Amino acid sequence: MIKIDKICAGYGDLKVLFDLSMHIDKGEVVSLVGSNGAGKTTLLRIISGLEPVTSGSLTYMDIDLLKEKPEKRADLGIAHIPQGRGILGTLTIEENLILGAYSKKVRANLDKNMKHAYELFPILEERKYQLAGSLSGGQQQMLAIGRALMMEPKLLMLDEPSLGLAPIVVEDMFRIIADVAKSGMSILIVEQNLVQALSVADRGYVLETGNIVLEGSAKELLENEDIRAAYLGV
Ligand SMILES: Nc1ncnc2c1ncn2[C@@H]1O[C@H](COP(=O)(O)OP(=O)(O)O)[C@@H](O)[C@H]1O
Ligand SMILES: [Mg+2]
Repeated sequence: MIKIDKICAGYGDLKVLFDLSMHIDKGEVVSLVGSNGAGKTTLLRIISGLEPVTSGSLTYMDIDLLKEKPEKRADLGIAHIPQGRGILGTLTIEENLILGAYSKKVRANLDKNMKHAYELFPILEERKYQLAGSLSGGQQQMLAIGRALMMEPKLLMLDEPSLGLAPIVVEDMFRIIADVAKSGMSILIVEQNLVQALSVADRGYVLETGNIVLEGSAKELLENEDIRAAYLGV
């Protein structure tokens, strides 16, 4: 689905990503885990077209993605839920969902996709005329996912979906992500919450200061002794 090949990137003199290579197959759930400042958000912004690279290539379904503008990448099926969710709190829940369907291609399916989002998240339908800012953190993350699904994405990218959520809500959130994955879309999760992110993933990559230091099946990574020592203190 997407192949990231030897990407280097940074901000001015600050180098953030070093020869980063990874791939996501069709229908796969891949988690990229790493601590704060590792470069996770930068990578997602590069895939969405919001940050440039200094070298490397990005191939999505045989398309050279680096040549395409952000809007085109969204049209091609790349949905990005940003860190902090990007919900517009002064608009209603339903208005936020409608904003997800901005591309011409999916606007024709707006009603169908909204029905689907409400089936997935009944709480959003119950509150559809309320301001999105009145939702809890977990509900706002549901809304962010629902809005992304309005785009009919082929690749859904989530930037730290668990950030700021209570532990019990985090579990719900990852259960929802696992549910969404069953529809067959490819999903890229970036997270500091290594255990949760890997527990719903097929494969994972560990990012440390812009370098991928480990990769493997999610099961392998969860059993890896270095990871258990570094991230879980066991
Ligand atoms: N807009 C920016 N300008 C300058 N430096 C940035 C910018 N965004 C991020 N950085 C720096 O790039 C590095 C990686 O950041 P980021 O991709 O946000 O990491 P993560 O998402 O893994 O926490 C950090 O050192 C951060 O301070
Ligand atoms: Mg980040």
